[in-house]
Order: sequence, then structure tokens, then C-alpha cells
Amino acid sequence: MAKSVAFTMNGGDSLYSYSKNSTFQRKAIDAAKELINEAVFERLDTESFSSSAFRVTDLGCSVGPNTFLAVQNIVDALEQKYQSQGHNSQLLELQVFFNDHASNDFNELFRSLPADRRYYATGVPGSFHSRLFPKDFLHFVYSSYALQCLSKVPEEVADINSPAWNKGRIYYSNSEDQVVKAYEAQYAKDMGCLLNARAQEIVCGGLMAFVVPGRPNGVPHTQVLGNKVVELIGSCLMDMANKGVISEEKLDSFNIPLYMASLDEVEAIHRKSENLTQEQPQANVIASTLRSGMEGMFREHFGDEILDEFFDSLRKKLEESSSVLKPLTSISLFANRNTHTEMPRGGGNYYNFTKIRDAIDSVGAKVNVIGVVLECGFPRRSRGTDWFVSVRIIDETHQDPGLSVNIFTDRNECPRILSVGDIIQFQRLMIKRHVDKVNAVFSKKFSTFAIYYGSDARSLSPYHASKTFRERDHDKNFLIDLRRWLKNFHFHEGANYFSSIREMKGGEDFHLVCKIIHIHEGAGNEWMAFVWDGTDAPPANILQNFPAVGTVLRVISQDLENDNLRLLKTGEWVKLVNLLCEVHAGLWRCVLTPFTKLRYTPKEDRLKLERKRLFNERLAQSPENLMQMPFGGFPSPQVTEVDDSDDDHAIFLTLMDVVASSELPARFKCVVRVIAASPWQAADFLFPAGIDRIRLTLEDSAARIHAFLYAEDGVKFFNGQSSVEALEVKRNFLLGVRVNNDGVQDDPRRNPPWVQVWLKSETDQQGNPHYRIFGTKVVAA
Ligand SMILES: C[S@@+](CC[C@H](N)C(=O)[O-])C[C@H]1O[C@@H](n2cnc3c(N)ncnc32)[C@H](O)[C@@H]1O
Repeated sequence: MAKSVAFTMNGGDSLYSYSKNSTFQRKAIDAAKELINEAVFERLDTESFSSSAFRVTDLGCSVGPNTFLAVQNIVDALEQKYQSQGHNSQLLELQVFFNDHASNDFNELFRSLPADRRYYATGVPGSFHSRLFPKDFLHFVYSSYALQCLSKVPEEVADINSPAWNKGRIYYSNSEDQVVKAYEAQYAKDMGCLLNARAQEIVCGGLMAFVVPGRPNGVPHTQVLGNKVVELIGSCLMDMANKGVISEEKLDSFNIPLYMASLDEVEAIHRKSENLTQEQPQANVIASTLRSGMEGMFREHFGDEILDEFFDSLRKKLEESSSVLKPLTSISLFANRNTHTEMPRGGGNYYNFTKIRDAIDSVGAKVNVIGVVLECGFPRRSRGTDWFVSVRIIDETHQDPGLSVNIFTDRNECPRILSVGDIIQFQRLMIKRHVDKVNAVFSKKFSTFAIYYGSDARSLSPYHASKTFRERDHDKNFLIDLRRWLKNFHFHEGANYFSSIREMKGGEDFHLVCKIIHIHEGAGNEWMAFVWDGTDAPPANILQNFPAVGTVLRVISQDLENDNLRLLKTGEWVKLVNLLCEVHAGLWRCVLTPFTKLRYTPKEDRLKLERKRLFNERLAQSPENLMQMPFGGFPSPQVTEVDDSDDDHAIFLTLMDVVASSELPARFKCVVRVIAASPWQAADFLFPAGIDRIRLTLEDSAARIHAFLYAEDGVKFFNGQSSVEALEVKRNFLLGVRVNNDGVQDDPRRNPPWVQVWLKSETDQQGNPHYRIFGTKVVAA
């Protein structure tokens, strides 16, 4: 049975010591420095750690000086981060745990510790494939050039009865598929154990950074420098077996427990940053490097006596094989601990998404989640240069209410969600409790997002993502699963959750199902959406106070602080100079510009008194009080006739009188324009054979309402006409439709005439006002 191996590097400081033969690995450590800086700055949430000392470990540290350099890089990055946060970095207490197998030369390590170090040093003997530290203990886990070491040679490759028996070879890279698979499986298992152990030991928000020799995706094992070198070792041993220096049996039972993972393989763990560092090492450097690292392994298996001959022949082979001197690839892995709950319990992916149900239970932790956008707010400016937007996301584990994510970030880093129902993934969201609600906070410092189209889409790439987001292959499976789930998902809102426009009440939040009829986009950021749900809004309270005659003009200011509006006092007459008038979203309004002034208006101002007098005269006009009609709305006598037999002295009232009247039922004679009819087709107007009601939209300068024509009122309205042609002509007159000689509308613009109508207000079944037209006849045509 293959046993666990613990081959350590050569200790001491002799010719073949690791300390004198590890410049090659040091290059990778130097190359990783920038990445460590970046990761510490962007991803390590130092403020959230409660302990006073910061605890770092270097797994598989061997002996110096590489480990000291690597640790110093981490210490420097941390100190800089503390300083940048306004803290005194001198107060930062650091403890570094140097880990390696117990057989590592810890004496040499401690003897050569840098004298000027700013940390407490501790040795931790044992395999990094199992637990080494207490729970929630470490803040930063680092390892370089050690995770390629397997915990043991895969059992099958040394088993003479197994199809994976690696006869005549000492490594997998040039071997049969079964051998490669056995190594691959051992690596996955070991990494699973390592990450599972660290997941327990590292605090939430802590960081792991691994530099491992590896191979780029798609590059076969045979092409990797490290593997080629090991194959040369194999060929040296084969030569020695042929010469009888070592036995064939000894050779067959010897295998090297190393594995060069590809980026794809390590992606299944978690890759913050993939980085390729390239080296062009010299042959003799490689040979001594290998000797410093592997001598123990060869000594144990083949004995002391072959060592010099073996390493000498290896150096020669390396010199002859210029093809192996290709750049070596190292992969840098960065990973945060995300939650308490989502760490694998034995192998498998360390880096997964947390289900929303579990995320909600992880207050205080950082999580990665992927979910469907159920609700999305409109981005707004928040503090300073930040923007804020809130989204609510769900997945199959938590559909109601889901998880609210509050996003504070720079404007151009704000997620641009194109549709609710799209899918969004977040990394490193902080789960927080606010009063009795749990939500997630997206930090521009360390969180990332990526947004994908919803259930009908095929693309597996995000359509918008934060700058630092990196796509990973295994995310795609989550996306596919979520889309599949979403296809059959229906959100169950309570029956009364949404109201209709008819049920609106001032000062209350309400939820509306409506159709967007038109979006008016003005200059700058001004816009207005016109929405519709087929019901009529009740008159707003404020309308009750508006004068019924004379247009109430809206005056706005786009850039005036509200505070400055104190100059305008309700109930006072004022003189405004240099107002800008415009038609906005189809309605008149005035805008206060930088040139607008408020002019002194004394109590007895002549013009003010004149306006009042004219208004009172208008109201007092007799006998018909025709002046109470809007000025622009003098009725066209050729279009309608109203039945005055009941009440020929009725005065004309405006639609504002109608909607603001609290008297129900009541009758009103009005002058209005008919701006819409539903149904529109005259063929549908037929009474009594057609539908039994037509809805007309009426407006005057004060208000706009819907009024209905029912059965006999409709018959009278259309003067008893029943042919479609005749009804069409009347409709066209009434609604100002212009037609050519063939009866075809040739101009989309309409100009409805002002017409007289009788209106009756009633209450509908819900107790809301409802208006009907009666006693009115279209006489035109
Ligand atoms: C190539 S050396 C790298 C040393 C150093 N980190 C560097 O970058 O120069 C690999 C080290 O990992 C250690 N190692 C391998 N497997 C280990 C394990 N399971 N637990 C602890 N240390 C291990 C070896 O003993 C060796 O010291």
C-alpha cells in the first residue's frame, strides 16, 4: 500500500541545501508580490477582524530565505493597508506560523530568521493536508511551490495488479491515461482536504494566496517544463537500471508524488487571479534545485551511494535537452474564506456560491451568491461620488422575500441591469443585519458582480460586470441551472398586493400593475413615464382647492434648492419676471431660470387688482355664465347639441368642478374636447347590437376625465344613426380626425373641436366616482 510521504527539502546551508538552491522558486515569489499587494488591498477586510494580532501562515515553508521573503511581502502589504486606513502600522501585531513536515529542518529555519523581522515566529510541524490550527484562527494563508506535492503516490500506480500500474516509469506525464487519472484524482483529493482544513481554520473574510507550479489550460502534461525534468530523472534512473546500478523492481516501485495542475483544474477551487510568470532557468540551476528538493526521496528509495552518479547524469541530460528549457508556468491562486457554511466537507470545490437561504443565515460573513433579479431599484447618487442601487435576488432555496443587496459604488461601476428576471452573480457580499432585517452589502472595495440575461438566453457570458470580475468556467453551470429553474418559476404575490390606479390614496405606498404608454424624455435628466391600467384615478385632494376656472399653471425649477422656494408663499399674488414657458410632456408649464425674478407686489398693486376684477366678472357673467368656460373652449355649435329642456339655466362648469365635486350623484354641463374613444372602430359603436358602452376621454384646460356612453344615451349621442359610415363620420368630427376624399385618415394629428356635453356623476360598485354622458347629440355630418 502506498504510504503518505513527507519528503522535505535539504536543510542546512551546504552546497545542495534548499536555502542555496531555491532562487528559481524565489522568482515566482517576487512575481506574486504585486498580486499579494493587490489582494490585501482589495480583498482583505482587515477592519472586520476582531483579534488584536494578525495571524499569517506559510504552508510548506521549507527553510529560508524564500519563506522570509514571501512573509515580508505579506507584512509589507498589510502595513501599507493599515497606514492607508489611517492606522499606525507600528501598532499592528503579527504572528507568522511557519509550517512544513515535522522532518523539515526547523532548526535551520529558526536560526536564519531575519533579525529585523516585525513579527513573532512560530513553527507548526505537520501536513498541510490536515488540520494544523484551531478554528477561525488564521487571517492570511500563504503557500508557494508546495501544493504540487501530493500527500502520497496514488495507490493504483504502485499496484502491480492495477491497470494503472506505472511500470518502467516514475511519473505520470508520459504514462497511460489510467496513470494520469490516478494522479489527477489524488491531487483533487489532496486539495479538497487542504482547503477543507483551511476553511475551518481561517476567519471569515481571511485570505488565501497560493503560488503553485502548474500548466496553462490545454497544454498537455508532456509539455510542461517541470514534468519534462521529472521525465529526465526517470530516464536517468532507467539508464542506471540498465547498467544494473539499481534493480528494475526498485525502479518499478518508485513514483514521484508531484502533480502539475492546469488552470482549469485549479479554477474548480477558486481563482482570483491567474498569473503566468516565465522563467528561462539554466540546466545546472535546475539540477541543484532538484537535488536540494528531492535528494531525501531518492536516498530513501535507492540508497546514498547512487546519489552523486544520479544527479550528475541528470545534469548532463538537462544540458543536452534544450527543449525542456521552456518557460515554467506558475499559477497564483487567491481565495477568500466566504462563509461558515459553504466550505466543502471532503474534497470538491472550495469555491462555490452560497445559496440565498444560507447567505441569510451568515450574518457577519462574506458570501458569493448567484440569483435572479426579482426587483431592481433605479440607481441614484449617494454620498460623495458614490452611486446607490438596491436589487432583490432569489434562487430556488429562497423565493420570498429573497435577499436585498445594497450596492454602493462608483457611477460607472454601478450594475446596469437591463431587465428584472436577469441573473446576477456577486462575489464577496457582506451579510448584515439591520434592525430585524438581513441584507447584503456590496462594497466597491472588494465585491464584484456580473449580470447575465435571464431564462431565455443562451449566452454564458455576462453582459455587464465589474472591472475586477473574472469569468470562471464553473460559474456557468450555476447559471445554466438557475435559468432552468427560472423557466418554470412563478412568483406568488398575495392577491391584494397590487392595487389599481383607481385605488390610489395620497400618502400611501402602493404597488401597481400598469402599462407604460409613453416615456417622455426631456432635456438633461428630465423624463416622465405615462402609465395606464385601464382604471381612473380618484381626484387628488389638492384638486379640491384649485379654482375651477382658469388654468392652473405648473411652475418648476430644475436647479433651485427647495429652500429658496420660501420666497413663494401659498395664497399670495406675486409678479414673476422672465419665466420660461414650454410644453412639457404635452402640458404647459413654466420654468424658473437663472434670470427669473420675483418683483415687488404691494397689497394694492394695480395689476393684481385688475386680474381679480376680471376673474370675478368672468364668474359673474349672466345669464348663461358662458364666461365660466375655458377661454379657449368656445363650443363649436355645429358639433353637438345638449338637451336643455330640463335645465336650460344650467351654467357651464369645468371638468375641475366635476372631479372636485363631493356631491354624488350630480349633473354638470361642460365644454370639453373629446380626445380619445374606446373602442375606436365605429363598427363597434353600434347600439344596441354593438357593445353597450363607449368610453370617451374628455379634457378641458383644468382636468381630464373618462366618461361613458351607455345604451340609449349612446343611441341619442349618435342621433340614432346605425350605419358604420355615418358613425365614422360623427366620430371623426368629434375627435378632430382629418380624412381625405376616400375617407382615409391622412394626417395623424388631430384637433378635436370644443363641444358641449351633459355629464352625470355616479358612484361605481367600489364607491368611486364614475361619469356618464347623457342628453347630448352629435349633430355634425
Ligand atoms: C519546493 S518547497 C517550497 C518551499 C518554499 N515555500 C518556497 O517557495 O521556496 C516545498 C515544501 O513543501 C513542503 N511540503 C510538501 N508537502 C507538504 C505537506 N503535506 N505539508 C507540509 N509541507 C509540505 C516540503 O517539505 C517542502 O519544504
